[in-house]
Amino acid sequence: MSEQIKTIGVLTSGGDAPGMNAAIRAVVRKALSNGVTVKGIKRGYAGLLAEEIIEMGRKDVSDTIQRGGTILGTARCLEFKEEEVQAEAAEICRKHGIDGIVVIGGDGSYRGAQALARHGINTIGIPGTIDLDIACSDYTIGFDTAVNTAMQAIDKVRDTSSSHERCSIIEVMGRNAGYIALWCGIANGAEDILLPETYDYNEQRIINNIIQNRKKGKKHHIIINAEGIGHSTSMARRIEAATGIETRATILGYMQRGGSPTCKDRYYASIMGAYAADILCEGKTNRVVAYRHGEFTDFDIEEALNMTKQIPEYQYQVSKTI
Ligand code: ADP
Ligand code: F6P
Repeated sequence: MSEQIKTIGVLTSGGDAPGMNAAIRAVVRKALSNGVTVKGIKRGYAGLLAEEIIEMGRKDVSDTIQRGGTILGTARCLEFKEEEVQAEAAEICRKHGIDGIVVIGGDGSYRGAQALARHGINTIGIPGTIDLDIACSDYTIGFDTAVNTAMQAIDKVRDTSSSHERCSIIEVMGRNAGYIALWCGIANGAEDILLPETYDYNEQRIINNIIQNRKKGKKHHIIINAEGIGHSTSMARRIEAATGIETRATILGYMQRGGSPTCKDRYYASIMGAYAADILCEGKTNRVVAYRHGEFTDFDIEEALNMTKQIPEYQYQVSKTI
């Protein structure tokens, strides 16, 4: 394809997400089919700085599409925010003959990619996060698997909650974003959904709601609490004290980040990975791949980072009424 791009790298960064392997696989195989050499960079930006770089062939990504986590490993590397560290990383890329890198991760990882682009290494980002909180993209790799895992777990907790006529607070992931909580709230028919973007911290309203529902004969009361609100265990104690109804907290935690990706995650990751490899091989840089308004597309990283995304008001209202 491009005369300049002979070798590309691929790395995963930030929190892992199911489907990252499908994205790596697509990047590797599409780039190879474009006649470009591919190098896998282990442990995100930390591995780049440590020069943990391996050449990857088609067979190196065999039997990975169905696996959770990331075969390359991931890391948080705070020093990558420093200008001189970024310059050093670009030098390492040049030393290894890497002309461009596909970075699979979230907003933070995109900032690292932007820095490398500033230092002359072509970069393309792919949205990989269970949180669905990349503003330019209607879809992020890992979200579908995470919400399905959470939904199934919440169904199970609900059974026990009904049997024992208890109130259950179930904490799902999302430190800054309530999409997992919103989707599970609707899909699991929760009585209350607490999102970082909208929660007013009015616990009395929740308590009144529980008491009213119990009077109406409801056997369970499910509250889905996003990680960003937190305090699920102490909230359970306060609710139990105020209502006299046994209340338990369940924190689902990392089970939402792992596991075999769903068909949807494998599919989107595969298309996004191939798309990223293609535009990188064409010589594009400082871009992120996105799925927006029904199409796969790409945006300038700065533009993508400046975009904002809100919890859709109508969907949130629906969650409260049905
Ligand atoms: P995510 O990519 O999922 O948002 P983080 O915010 O933890 O996850 O970012 C992942 C990594 O990206 C960080 O550990 C760091 O190496 C890099 N990174 C984050 N912010 C910046 C920044 N402002 N400049 C350069 N690199 C960054
Ligand atoms: O990957 C997304 C996420 O689960 C967020 O919801 C959360 O804020 C973060 O990862 C926590 O990650 P860690 O515990 O690995 O720092």
